[in-house]
Amino acid sequence: MIVSVILAAGEGTRMKSDISKLCHTLLRKPMLNYVATASSKAGIEKNIVIVNEKNRPIIEQTIEIPNAVFEIQRIGEGIPYGTGYAVKLGMGHVSDEDQVLILNGDIPLLKAESLRSLIEHHLASGAAGTLMTAFMDDPYGYGRIVKDEEGYLKAIVEHRDADEKTLAIKEWNPGIYLFNGKLLKEALEELDADNDQGELYITDVVHILSTRGHKLATYPVADAGEVFGINSKDQLAEAEELLRKRVNTEYMKQGVIMENPATILIEPGVAIGRDTRIGMGVSITGRTSIGAHCSITGDTHIHNAQIGDRVVIRSSDIESSEVGDDTDIGPYARLRPGAVLGQQVHIGNFVEVKNSKMGNKTKAGHLAYIGDADLGADINVGCGVVFVNYDGVKKHRSTVEDGAFIGSNANIVSPVHIETDGFVAAGSTITRDVEKGALAITRPEEKHILDWVYIKKKKH
Ligand code: UD1
Ligand code: CA
Repeated sequence: MIVSVILAAGEGTRMKSDISKLCHTLLRKPMLNYVATASSKAGIEKNIVIVNEKNRPIIEQTIEIPNAVFEIQRIGEGIPYGTGYAVKLGMGHVSDEDQVLILNGDIPLLKAESLRSLIEHHLASGAAGTLMTAFMDDPYGYGRIVKDEEGYLKAIVEHRDADEKTLAIKEWNPGIYLFNGKLLKEALEELDADNDQGELYITDVVHILSTRGHKLATYPVADAGEVFGINSKDQLAEAEELLRKRVNTEYMKQGVIMENPATILIEPGVAIGRDTRIGMGVSITGRTSIGAHCSITGDTHIHNAQIGDRVVIRSSDIESSEVGDDTDIGPYARLRPGAVLGQQVHIGNFVEVKNSKMGNKTKAGHLAYIGDADLGADINVGCGVVFVNYDGVKKHRSTVEDGAFIGSNANIVSPVHIETDGFVAAGSTITRDVEKGALAITRPEEKHILDWVYIKKKKH
């Protein structure tokens, strides 16, 4: 069996961050997720993830692959440290017959296809280990690949431990290794911390095995950009741009229209139908699906939402909501969690909907708050209507049946039930149920005092 060990326990000092490096995000997904997903997509069913005590909860919660196994690396004074030590912690899950794929957790652009090719190459060659490598004119900071006269891999020398001759080598180590399980375990026992950082380096396994006469191969990756390792926040931003381009290009190839794609943020995994137009600056994240022929423009942000076909959304915020076909939203509307809109619904400017249903063709054109309410079809919610759902202690729910009319600036003090075709007069505050077809009106008597303005002025 091929098992993977994914390294995610490092301190990430160069990130200068209070958040674990592996939890920093690209297109809103934690960095580690990309590596784990590539491993899983390459067909690896057993993925052992080395985490530390601090980042474990978030990694366990956000990882998107099935059956990941976690091992904790304790970090602190007097405790060994380094990539070699981290790999060692995973060996309890590895048997001698396994082939072990070791992956640095900080290479989010890595593709599953490249891992598959590496595995094929390794199994075909019968080498004791195969290292994915890359070439660059100046691989600053990376470990250099040192080979013997026959071209077999002899050692990996860290940049900081390298002499001038070694630094001139253009082939470098991206941190993706495949080793025979038994030989790896034996070599890990021999690691020492005799290097500039005083750490146990996984890269030293190469030297240990080659000294013992084992053949180790290299497998150069086609595109060095794919194995870009992230150590700092500027590298994070650089990698995110590369990933954005890759992801958005794929959506466009599937038929999505993008205006200025460099400004659009789509989290991988979001589904978008063909001929849907995404305007500049839009973000679509989480478990979201969007139908075909929609138009999503302006300052719009959509998270965890299901949007139908031919929906028009302008400059609005939508979270954990459902929107039916042919509905239009915004500009400047907000759908909060639990908003469920039917078909041909109209939500206009400055309308907020929370934990509420709105049936087909129901409209709220301007300045309204619809919270904790179930609205049927063909209802008109006037300008300035408020569903008063909170009494300071508890939330209450109201229902409004089909065809009802709620006049402008009305307050519906929940819980209230408005029956079919019920009519609430503008400016009313409604606290009791409204019967079918009834008019509900609460207004103080209207008085007009003639010439009041002129009389007042003369007195002054
Ligand atoms: C490592 C390689 C270097 C290679 C580079 C590629 C070593 C010694 N060096 O260097 O040859 O060119 O990656 O990007 O391996 N980690 C742990 N526990 C630890 C230390 C690290 O889990 O005790 C994890 C980190 O979280 C990270 C990965 O291992 O995901 C690599 O660690 P990092 O410190 O980034 O290694 P580099 O210095 O970049
Ligand atoms: Ca690194």
